[in-house]
Amino acid sequence: MADLHVSFAGIAFKNPVLTASGTFGFGREYGEYYDLSELGGVCVKGLTAAPRLGNPAPRIAETAMGMLNSVGLQNPGVDEFIRAELPFLRRYDTRVIANISGNTVSEYGEMAAKLSDAGVDIIEVNVSCPNVHAGGMQFGTDPRAVAEVTREVRRNSRVPVMIKLSPNVTDIAEIARAAEGAGADAVSLINTLLGMKIDVNTRKPVLANNTGGLSGAAVLPVAVKMVWQVRNAVSIPILGMGGIFTGEDAVEMLLAGADMVAVGTANFTYPDAPLRVRDGIAKYLDAKKIRSVTELSGAVEMH
Ligand code: FUM
Repeated sequence: MADLHVSFAGIAFKNPVLTASGTFGFGREYGEYYDLSELGGVCVKGLTAAPRLGNPAPRIAETAMGMLNSVGLQNPGVDEFIRAELPFLRRYDTRVIANISGNTVSEYGEMAAKLSDAGVDIIEVNVSCPNVHAGGMQFGTDPRAVAEVTREVRRNSRVPVMIKLSPNVTDIAEIARAAEGAGADAVSLINTLLGMKIDVNTRKPVLANNTGGLSGAAVLPVAVKMVWQVRNAVSIPILGMGGIFTGEDAVEMLLAGADMVAVGTANFTYPDAPLRVRDGIAKYLDAKKIRSVTELSGAVEMH
């Protein structure tokens, strides 16, 4: 069988399939369905310095081949994560990626220091959440702010730093270059696309926050194109995500230039979606007689 091992930002992964932040909680519920050790890694729900209750409901809406969310970074806070959730995840033989969101640049640095001391494998820096008023996408749409946050996290972290990019920008390659130039070890993309759904009877937006982030199968072609754009702009590794449901979706993302993939919204439809994707990649490699998954990265042949 083909080799699925990947080295990403200097960290060894048993396979290139992670869970995308915000779609897997801290793994407890999914751990009742299957052994989390089968995953390449778990990227946990976005953490903030203090606990957050998130936005008012409704904060999820179904769309054609996708969903809108405006969760608003509900989470127990970084200290509680380290106390109660990280030891649970550490029971499994899988990588743990902590996703962080700060209100200020220094908050990002403080969280990175705590989490890298606590022993997470990679810090994913969320500068792309579309559902909060302070921080989030506010940082991720400005290359100078992305560089500033990246430098601060890099300075405070002993583990690799991965910047999660927003698709809600004119030129995602420019943002990726800013992250790389400021010392990022990797980038991940895409976060969700800004969207809105209106109830035609009440004439009100379905989400209490009015707008939200679109994810799911509908966004795959957008994500593939942006990964390809970023691959041509930077040389650091890329974690590709956005609409991956099948092994073939993941292969597309890898061919576009990703080194690993994350499965997000598909977890809500198929609790074992990441394992289906992993097995689908392996099946593709075997059918094409490709020895290692690493041979796929960036191997798209353009017209
Ligand atoms: O609203 C949320 O919690 C989403 C976060 C994100 O998309 O980064």
